[in-house]
Amino acid sequence: MSTALHPALRPAPEPGLAPVGEAIVDWYAGAARDLPWREPGTDPWAVLVSEVMLQQTPVARVEPRWREWMAQWPSPAALAAASPGDVIRAWGKLGYPRRALRLREAAVAITERHGGAVPADVGALEALPGIGTYTARAVACFGHGLRQPVVDTNVRRVVARLVHGRLEAAPARASDLADIDALAPEDDDRAVRFSVAIMELGALVCVARTPRCGVCPVRDRCAWRLAGSPAAGGPPRRVQKFAGTDRQVRGRLLDVLRAATGPVDPAELDQVWADAVQRSRCLASLLADGLLEQTADGRFTRPG
Ligand code: ADE
Repeated sequence: MSTALHPALRPAPEPGLAPVGEAIVDWYAGAARDLPWREPGTDPWAVLVSEVMLQQTPVARVEPRWREWMAQWPSPAALAAASPGDVIRAWGKLGYPRRALRLREAAVAITERHGGAVPADVGALEALPGIGTYTARAVACFGHGLRQPVVDTNVRRVVARLVHGRLEAAPARASDLADIDALAPEDDDRAVRFSVAIMELGALVCVARTPRCGVCPVRDRCAWRLAGSPAAGGPPRRVQKFAGTDRQVRGRLLDVLRAATGPVDPAELDQVWADAVQRSRCLASLLADGLLEQTADGRFTRPG
């Protein structure tokens, strides 16, 4: 369901909030990072690929991979024609390689259902494999230039501080989209820029651990600062450690397969992780996700 309302139906902005959004757009004009997928004229497919890559991977690691990917598969139809093995190889070490397979499945669906053109409708985007609330709105907004609230973790944190006076964001909820709508400028073009601007503010200034309030364009309007910068309520957040996680083990197993020229003997995989129970669990999950396959003689290989 699209949340963009026809201008005539849109409620009047809450007094005092729209100017805050305007200030964030003005700040963005001078402070934004120069990222290739933000260049004017970037097509919706290129935006979709960037958003999927950026879901769990930092910008610096995504940038070179995104350029290679767009050169190799410049359209959904091109990616739809690639083999799963090729896309996993090209994904390289971006992490969470299931994303590569889902992106290929999305390319197939775009080719079959939408004639190869990335849809602009949020509902149609959300119906694609691997495309959730955030990515659907990011593609509609950044790829098609449509007014849309685009809410990621950074944006939720900015809104928690700026509007609700809390240091940390609550878990995602439906009212996030309305919060952002209330801040967005009236003018549609500026509302589109606002969606990326508030994301950038959260990435560069209103960061999780040590917010850089000294350089914040809306520090004087921030409910959290006006409340005296209170500490977070509730118990401290648990931070998931990477070392020893299934994600690390899966990564090591895939590294062996990536380095091999053919199928790999199970004994070789035994070397990468001592805990046999965890190792088997990870192998089983890689097989279930389609990131590994087993040959008839029991060796392991990447999908062809
Ligand atoms: N610009 C647009 N979407 C972005 C994202 N997810 N991360 C960084 N920059 C972006």
